Formats: sequence, structure tokens, C-alpha cells
Amino acid sequence: MSTLVLVTYATRYGSTQEVAEAIAASLRERGLEIDIQPLRAVRALEGYRAVVLGAPIFYGRWHKDAGRFLSRHRETLTDRRVAVFALGPLGTEEKDMQGARAVLDKALLNFPWLAPIALEVFVGKYDPAKLRFPDNLIPALRRLPASDLRDWKAISAWASNLAEKLQPSLS
Ligand SMILES: Cc1cc2nc3c(=O)[nH]c(=O)nc-3n(C[C@H](O)[C@H](O)[C@H](O)COP(=O)(O)O)c2cc1C
Repeated sequence: MSTLVLVTYATRYGSTQEVAEAIAASLRERGLEIDIQPLRAVRALEGYRAVVLGAPIFYGRWHKDAGRFLSRHRETLTDRRVAVFALGPLGTEEKDMQGARAVLDKALLNFPWLAPIALEVFVGKYDPAKLRFPDNLIPALRRLPASDLRDWKAISAWASNLAEKLQPSLS
């Protein structure tokens, strides 16, 4: 089996893709062979030994592509190491992080067979000027200020820790 690790993501406004790219770069720097693809583009997992899956939270739910991917590839994934992250809250307060974590934990209850080797929520990015239909129809959302509090240090630390977990099994 190859040593490839797949980093795969869902995104609506691009910020989860950027985080996935940063994680992929960080894993590559640590000597791992990485492919990166949107969740929807992934056809088969046979060539991969591990999968890093990331998706944002919208309206209190984890992006549906993540659940679809987990359902579709269940058989292969039970045999792979899987790391999971979500992009969620726009604030960094404990209650924001806990709310987003609760959404992720609840979504993962649908996949009791999945035992992620790493699981994390990262703060997201928001720009009301970029909202597209139907998000742009909601006045409360249009009034929210733009923010990008993505914690690149935390993302890099998570990736670095993940690389350590993945390396022994891949060498
Ligand atoms: C319409 C909309 C709804 C959102 N709803 C939630 C939510 O319920 N909980 C949460 O933690 N974050 C929520 N967010 C924040 C997003 O998860 C965050 O903006 C994320 O970075 C978006 O990822 P993307 O750029 O990859 O699409 C919402 C953002 C938008 C634009």
C-alpha cells in the first residue's frame, strides 16, 4: 500500500480549503506524501493509508459533504487512520468553540464506527460582502462584521502533531 495521505475538504467560501492547504503543506514538510482534493471529487480511497477530512459548519450543521463522504467510504475508512477537523465559530470565546464542537460531535454520532486519531474545531472566516444566495437573504448575517480569526499557529500545531501520529505507521 502506498504512503499517500489524502487531505480532503468541503468549502463554501474558501476558508476551509485554505486551512486544508495549510495542513497539507505542513504534512508535506514533515516528509509525508500528500494528495489534496475536495470531498466531492474523491472517487476511491484504495491508494491512501490515511485521510484528513475537514468541513465547515453552517446553520448549526456540519457541511453535508462530510457526512456523505463518511457514509460512502465507510468500508474503506474503517481500515484507515482518519483525522477530522471543522471550521466553525467566528468568535474565539469558550462558548463559541464549545458550540461548534457540539455540532461536530453530534454529526459524528452518526458514524459510531469512526475513531478519529485527531479531532479539532478551528475558528473560521466570515465576510458579509461575499455572502451568496441564499445566505445573503438573511439580514442578521449581513449585519455581522467581517472577521478572520483563523488561528494559524493552532492549525500548524495540530498538523505537526498529526504528522507524528501518521509517520510511524507510514514508514
Ligand atoms: C451563512 C453562514 C452560517 C454559518 N453558521 C455557523 C454556525 O451555525 N456555527 C458555526 O460555528 N459557524 C457558522 N458559520 C461560520 C462558518 O463555519 C465559517 O465562516 C467558515 O470559515 C466557513 O467556511 P468556508 O469558507 O470554507 O465555507 C457560518 C457562516 C456562514 C457564512
